[in-house]
Amino acid sequence: MTARDLHADIGDTLVSEERIAARVAELGARISEDFAGRRLTLVSVLKGSLPFMADLMRAISIPVRIDLMEVSSYGGAATESSGLVRILKDLSASIEGEDVLIVEDIIDTGLTLNYLVRYLRGKNPASLGICTLLDKPARRLVDINVNYTGFTIPDQFVVGYGLDYNELYRNLRYVGVLKPEVYAVPE
Ligand code: IMP
Repeated sequence: MTARDLHADIGDTLVSEERIAARVAELGARISEDFAGRRLTLVSVLKGSLPFMADLMRAISIPVRIDLMEVSSYGGAATESSGLVRILKDLSASIEGEDVLIVEDIIDTGLTLNYLVRYLRGKNPASLGICTLLDKPARRLVDINVNYTGFTIPDQFVVGYGLDYNELYRNLRYVGVLKPEVYAVPE
C-alpha cells in the first residue's frame, strides 16, 4: 500500500488536523487549570492514543508524569468490541496517591475503559479521571463518567490520528471514515 492509497481509502474527513489541534490545546489548558498544584499522572492506552497523548501532554503546562499501558480489545480486522480485555503492557510505576487521568483515543461500547477503570482503582490513586479524544455514545454498553471529551462522533468506524483498521491508517493526521469497499476487499 502506498501513501496515496492511504488517503484514497478515506471517504469523509470527520475531524480535520486543524480542529484536532485546536481542541487538544483547549483540553490541555483546562486540564492544566483543573490539576494546578496537584500530582498528575497521564496514563495513555496504546496504541491508538499515542498521537493524542503526545500532543495533549505538550498542551499541558503544569508538571506531569506519564505512563503507558497496552490492552487489546479487538482482534485483527474485527470492528466489534468483544468485551474481552487483555493487559499486554502494565504500568511501569506506582500510581498510589496520584491524580490519574486515563488518556484514551475513543470510547465505543465502553467495555475496555470499564475494565481499565476498575483495574486502576485497585491501585489506589488519589483520583481517577478520563480524557478521550473521541466519544461514540450511541454504542455505549456500560455507564462511564468521562471528564474530558475532544469530539462526540456518530456511530461510524473511524481511522486516523492513532486509530487503526487492521493496524493501518494510524499515521493519518486527521480522523476519517473508511470507504465501505475497503472492508470488503481481502488483503
Ligand atoms: P470499546 O471497548 O468498545 O469502548 O472499544 C474501545 C477500543 O476499541 C478503542 O480504544 C479502539 O482501540 C477500538 N475502537 C473502537 N471504535 C473504533 C473505531 O471507530 N475505529 C478504530 N478503533 C476503534
